[in-house]
Amino acid sequence: MAGPSRDLLADVFDEAVRNTCDVASHCKRYAISVGYWKDPYIEYFVSHPKERKAPEISRGYYARVHGVGRLLKAFLEKTKCNCQIVNLGAGMDTLFWKLKDENLLPMKYFEVDFPSVVSRKIHYIKSKPPLSKPIMESHSGETLLIDPHSLDSSRYAIIGGDLRDLPKLEEKLKKCHINPDLPTLLLAECVLIYMTTEHSTCLIKWVGGMFRSAMFINYEQVNMADRFGQIMIENLQSKQCELVGADACRSLDTQKERFLLLGWETVNALDMLKVYQSLPSEDIRRIEALEFLDEKEPFEQLMQHYCLCWAVKDSQNLGLADIIL
Ligand SMILES: C[S@@+](CC[C@H](N)C(=O)[O-])C[C@H]1O[C@@H](n2cnc3c(N)ncnc32)[C@H](O)[C@@H]1O
Repeated sequence: MAGPSRDLLADVFDEAVRNTCDVASHCKRYAISVGYWKDPYIEYFVSHPKERKAPEISRGYYARVHGVGRLLKAFLEKTKCNCQIVNLGAGMDTLFWKLKDENLLPMKYFEVDFPSVVSRKIHYIKSKPPLSKPIMESHSGETLLIDPHSLDSSRYAIIGGDLRDLPKLEEKLKKCHINPDLPTLLLAECVLIYMTTEHSTCLIKWVGGMFRSAMFINYEQVNMADRFGQIMIENLQSKQCELVGADACRSLDTQKERFLLLGWETVNALDMLKVYQSLPSEDIRRIEALEFLDEKEPFEQLMQHYCLCWAVKDSQNLGLADIIL
């Protein structure tokens, strides 16, 4: 009997990748319910997880949210919010709504994910006033455009597409009036590793060619060549989820190289243990009091296998290269 076709296998793997957005949202919702940080919007996208999550996971998410948040706020400050944000593989992320509450909205905020993930998010937005109201409040001008796989308003757009198909992605973003002249922050949190390095390289190259000034924040796995990294890969493989981009996640250097080789001007990368250790001491004291952690070592090992990498190209001399954690 013939084995499954390549297309069928690709569909199975893509479906497993799409499901990762629920895993991320469940972990965030759990950590928020314990008090690690506040997010009044996550409950509209994901139910409360049935099982508790290990404190290591919640502390890791805290460091990620805090680290990405610090870089993002520095970018908004440098550009005085006269910029765009494009959240690649946004899943059920709630950043748009939080920025709106903080009066920190960029000129326009874009999200991209697979069409089936986007249609689910649009359904939640349409059916839950706490999500739709901020979009309506920030909308001005003509009628808001909405179909099953995209929504376009003045300040928020969500687009169903495949990050591996750049011509189509560019066409859809242009339809939603993306502006190549505006400084643009690209955000990819646990996304690039799900595509081959060829695909992520093309994506990084495309971003570099599309925008005059840009910052790319990439959060994902690192040190994947060691024993711990191999176990992470095997664990996900057993759930039909291939980390096909793991090659670029061998080390902090491989994470940085792919930007530098494509002409990005400045690149920084830190493993998440360093990011955690750079948190304000009162934050560390507060979150470490929330849940008891038996042993520090497994937590530290886990944190050494994720990293935050940020790359900058700054043709408009906005001082983006000065952004540090
Ligand atoms: C682990 S989730 C992370 C979601 C979100 N960034 C977060 O941190 O909460 C990965 C997301 O990337 C999306 N994704 C992965 N590969 C993609 C592709 N080729 N095109 C569009 N979306 C993709 C998945 O559908 C999923 O929503």
